Amino acid sequence: MTKQTTISLIAAMSKNRAIGLNNALPWNPIPADWDNLKEVTKDKKMIMGRKSYDNPHRIWSEIENYVITRQADYVVDAGFEVVSSLEEAFEKCKFEEEVFVLGGEEIFKLSIPFADRIYLTLVHETFEGDAFFPAFNKNDFNITERKEFLKGQNTPYNISILTYERK
Ligand SMILES: NC(=O)c1ccc[n+]([C@@H]2O[C@H](COP(=O)([O-])OP(=O)(O)OC[C@H]3O[C@@H](n4cnc5c(N)ncnc54)[C@H](OP(=O)(O)O)[C@@H]3O)[C@@H](O)[C@H]2O)c1
Repeated sequence: MTKQTTISLIAAMSKNRAIGLNNALPWNPIPADWDNLKEVTKDKKMIMGRKSYDNPHRIWSEIENYVITRQADYVVDAGFEVVSSLEEAFEKCKFEEEVFVLGGEEIFKLSIPFADRIYLTLVHETFEGDAFFPAFNKNDFNITERKEFLKGQNTPYNISILTYERK
C-alpha cells in the first residue's frame, strides 16, 4: 500500500457499540446516515467481509468492490471481486486516492491499525447486537468534523456523524 491512499473506515454504531444483529442493521433505516454514506463514498472502491457481502441489505460501490473470504471457491456477483486478505484488497487499491472499508466486525477489527480516517455514526440509543464496532484508541485520532441530526431530521433517532483523522 503506497502512502498516498487514504484508508477510510465507515460505520454506524449504537451507544453499546452494536453494528449488526442477525446479519442486518440493528435499527430501522436512518436516511440521514445513508445520505452521508452515499456522499462520502461516491466514486470510491469498497472492501467488505464475506458476511457483509452475503447480506440482503448489502452496500456496494458502483466502481469496484472487494469481498474478503477464506473460501477459495467463493463466487460473487458482477461488480465484486474475491480477495483472500485485507492486505490483498489494499494492494488492489494502491493507486486510489481513498478506499473504504465497510465492515463488518471482523474486518473492522483487522482494519483499525491501517485506518487513516474513520467516519463513525453514533446512534444515540442502545440496541441488541451480535456484531460490534471494535474499541480503538481515540488518542490516536483527532475529530475533524461532527454533524448532528436530531430525531425527526431525516432520522428516527438522534445521531452524530463524526470524522476521525489519524494524528
Ligand atoms: N453498522 C455498520 O456500520 C455495519 C457495517 C457493516 C456490517 N455491519 C454488520 O456487521 C455484521 C457482519 O459482521 P461480521 O463480523 O459477522 O462479518 P464480516 O466482517 O462482514 O465478514 C466476516 C467474514 O470475513 C472473512 N474473513 C474474516 N477475517 C478474514 C481473514 N483474516 N482472512 C480472510 N477472510 C477473512 C470470513 O469469510 P469466510 O467465512 O467466507 O471465510 C468471515 O466469515 C452484520 O450484522 C452486518 O449487518 C454493520
